[in-house]
Amino acid sequence: MSYNQKTVDKALKLGLGTNKVGGHNLFQNLDDKNGYEIIRQALDSNIKMLDTAFMYGLGRSEEIIGEVIKDHPRSDFKIATKAAQDINHDLKPNNSPEFLKKAVDEALERLHTDYIDIFYIHFPDEHTPKDEAVAALNELKDAGKIRAIGVSNFNLEQLKEANKNGQVDYVEDHYSLVHRETERTLWPYLKEHDIAFVPYFPLASGLLSGKYDIEDAPKFNQFTKAAFENIISSLKLVGQIADNHNATVTQTILAWYIANPNISTVIPGARDAKQVINIASSLDIDLSDTEYQQIDTAFENF
Ligand SMILES: NC(=O)c1ccc[n+]([C@@H]2O[C@H](COP(=O)([O-])OP(=O)(O)OC[C@H]3O[C@@H](n4cnc5c(N)ncnc54)[C@H](OP(=O)(O)O)[C@@H]3O)[C@@H](O)[C@H]2O)c1
Repeated sequence: MSYNQKTVDKALKLGLGTNKVGGHNLFQNLDDKNGYEIIRQALDSNIKMLDTAFMYGLGRSEEIIGEVIKDHPRSDFKIATKAAQDINHDLKPNNSPEFLKKAVDEALERLHTDYIDIFYIHFPDEHTPKDEAVAALNELKDAGKIRAIGVSNFNLEQLKEANKNGQVDYVEDHYSLVHRETERTLWPYLKEHDIAFVPYFPLASGLLSGKYDIEDAPKFNQFTKAAFENIISSLKLVGQIADNHNATVTQTILAWYIANPNISTVIPGARDAKQVINIASSLDIDLSDTEYQQIDTAFENF
């Protein structure tokens, strides 16, 4: 199986999403102690990429990560972070060069690190020419403060503008086996321009962990009844494949993304350290080509 050129090392195909680490503004009943445990467990489990953002706790997620990584060699893992929400303007997106440069400096401080491996513009704003925003990040790349430039939540037209000078390295966007639109909208451009793709919501916020059944349909009202039934029956098939590998449904779904050559790094989120342990083992699962194809086909209507 060939991997995306930017991710030649299989270990780098799995990261951890950290919006439940310190993300008090996004989720109820989070406690920081649990956040520290999640990050410690991720590093102890050899997870090589942490995906955070200013927006996760308005800097708190980055602070927690920054405190934990002090005890680990920096070269052992990568950090991706994002910014755009302007705290002085009701968190409206701001992509101006001055704002982005300040955001990177502040993130470096919170993370207690000299460099950020991937810095994403979290959301496009209305006014800044997107190539100018990216050019500002390119200056930071030249200065060694960031190592790669990413954009997130940009549509194709916005991405093309951002990448006018071929400076975008990564795109992070909503994608999962039950939300595959990006394959049609962005992937052809990404492939043509050698831009790496990082999907967010890979477990469809827990739905693809296999812990739900038909009666849970009301919790997932973004799907029609027929689509939800299709998901549940497809997950039963994934369960059979999981049994072949002594694995869980979550691990098998993640193994599918890891094996997908169009995906650079998959970044599932975890609620606690136990989920991190389960997630980390998905790197050990090698799906056969037949199993990979069976999962692909089971979810082909999404
Ligand atoms: N760029 C962007 O705009 C953007 C937007 C959203 C997210 N993100 C990034 O993408 C990451 C992933 O998104 P997400 O965390 O919201 O959704 P997700 O990865 O689709 O789902 C995470 C949820 O799956 C469940 N889960 C995880 N591991 C499990 C396991 N081993 N067994 C059973 N259930 C398990 C947990 O749900 P329960 O709570 O049910 O246990 C967990 O909260 C985020 O953390 C963030 O870093 C980026």
